[in-house]
Amino acid sequence: MTNDLSALHWWQRGVVYQIYPRSFQDTTQNGVGDLAGIIAHLDYLNDGTSASLGVDAIWLSPFYPSPMKDFGYDVADYCDVDPLFGDLATFDRLVAEAHRRGIKVIIDWVPNHTSDQHPWFIASRSSRDHSQRDWYIWRDPQPDGSPPNNWGSFFGGPAWTLDPATGQYYLHQFVKEQPELNWRNPALRAAMLDTLRFWLKRGIDGFRMDVIGLIIKDQDLRDNPPNPEADPNLPPNDLQGRLLHVYNMDQDEVHDIIREIRGVLNEFGDRCGIGELWGPLPRWVRYYGEQSDELQLPFNFRLMYEPWRAEAMRQSVDEMEAALPDFAWPNYVLGNHDQPRLASRFGGQAQARLAAMLLLTLRGTPTLYCGDELGLENGIIPPEKIQDPQGKNLGAARTRDVTRTPMQWDDSRYAGFSMVEPWLPVSTDFATRNVAQQLQDPTSPLSLYRRLLWYRHQQPALYGGRYRPIDVEADNCFVYVRETDDARCLIVLNFAAEARQVTIHGEDNGTIVLSTHLDREERVTLTSFTLRPYEGVIIELEGRV
Ligand code: NOJ
Repeated sequence: MTNDLSALHWWQRGVVYQIYPRSFQDTTQNGVGDLAGIIAHLDYLNDGTSASLGVDAIWLSPFYPSPMKDFGYDVADYCDVDPLFGDLATFDRLVAEAHRRGIKVIIDWVPNHTSDQHPWFIASRSSRDHSQRDWYIWRDPQPDGSPPNNWGSFFGGPAWTLDPATGQYYLHQFVKEQPELNWRNPALRAAMLDTLRFWLKRGIDGFRMDVIGLIIKDQDLRDNPPNPEADPNLPPNDLQGRLLHVYNMDQDEVHDIIREIRGVLNEFGDRCGIGELWGPLPRWVRYYGEQSDELQLPFNFRLMYEPWRAEAMRQSVDEMEAALPDFAWPNYVLGNHDQPRLASRFGGQAQARLAAMLLLTLRGTPTLYCGDELGLENGIIPPEKIQDPQGKNLGAARTRDVTRTPMQWDDSRYAGFSMVEPWLPVSTDFATRNVAQQLQDPTSPLSLYRRLLWYRHQQPALYGGRYRPIDVEADNCFVYVRETDDARCLIVLNFAAEARQVTIHGEDNGTIVLSTHLDREERVTLTSFTLRPYEGVIIELEGRV
């Protein structure tokens, strides 16, 4: 690892903030957020002063023309903006306004599937002989008429739908209106790479690539084996949940394609490729590329699934660090538009504050999900208001709507998100949990995020330093040092619901510069100091551990 922090890339040094455009700010009063709404809040995100949140890059979930069967992840045109969100001119303005503030713009790219309304699919399904037939994955039925293999959709039911007109099945691992592209076809491949160039030419700084590990499937589309550890209580239509993902993802050939994608990014300079990736560490780490020639940031979601235990979090971090080749830069995600809200998942507001400190003090690029900086909790969605296809098909407990409720800006009727009823209900706590209120409160979750972000920015040990875990006797505490040759911080995180006395051997004193409780900055003796329940502290060190 280089010690030259000035050589760090923007995507290493910065913090990414995910915006779900539908739910951020509605400026047209139709109940759905839009690009102009994002522009309106850029100063909130980073106006260059510590009064703002202080993020360095925004990632926008899809805003492409779409029938919205999966809320934009069903793309009908890769090179335009859905009128619901604005138009290309507004997008250009958004990029210019973001760049003016030093904020990079990352957009979502959905390479695995299109909408069934995409002209490519309309052409492809028109006849078996059409030149674009092979741009999608079509197969004959089995002799008994059943689908070509046993794969299931992530949203329930089989992954295949029969097209009666041409007598073949097409593959879709999400809703049936999301047919999957055939990346083994060179013409399709070239057309997709050109969609990257379209946006790179407009000045964007990177892509978050949706389910990139799925884009190449087993050449023979073999059946996936059963998963012996599948939850016996899965809904009956969750066919996919009962199988191991052996033949539908992470195939060796995917890496050839990702190298091509990286080649396109490199045509435009220091542009960043982020991949949505699942799967075990040895498979995941390959997406950095053997020669650092694939993705700069294969998303690391592991911490999201850990139980609330210091040991589990440390093990996850240590295993990931150990798996990385020297050139690879880590990254961490604790929330996104597909997962329950961080504050709900980890058990409450105190835990969410500690999680924020963890995320923003580890080595590697953190990605925040909009609203987590306010401590937003899962929204309550009455069954008749469920919008998400996953919730509609696999049951209310699986709906992702809970994490997509409108951003809470103030205490006005619809939380300042819109003047009309939003597409999803505003969470019931909006009157007391909103940006306006939290900006006034020096101990609010938003104040904690701001303090953490701005401290991280000016502390080389945090944005660029090494990571070194420290063993302590205190139960359920995660302790690590972040250090450069010149600066050192000790991070002490108490995951317990009780106070903990901590002893750090071989170190005399340090200064607490930030506590998750935002109520103490003081010199402490490290041979014995106390953390309150769920308290985390950043301590600037004087000596050597
Ligand atoms: C992952 C996205 O994050 C999710 O929202 C979407 O439903 C699926 N990919 C399908 O595109």
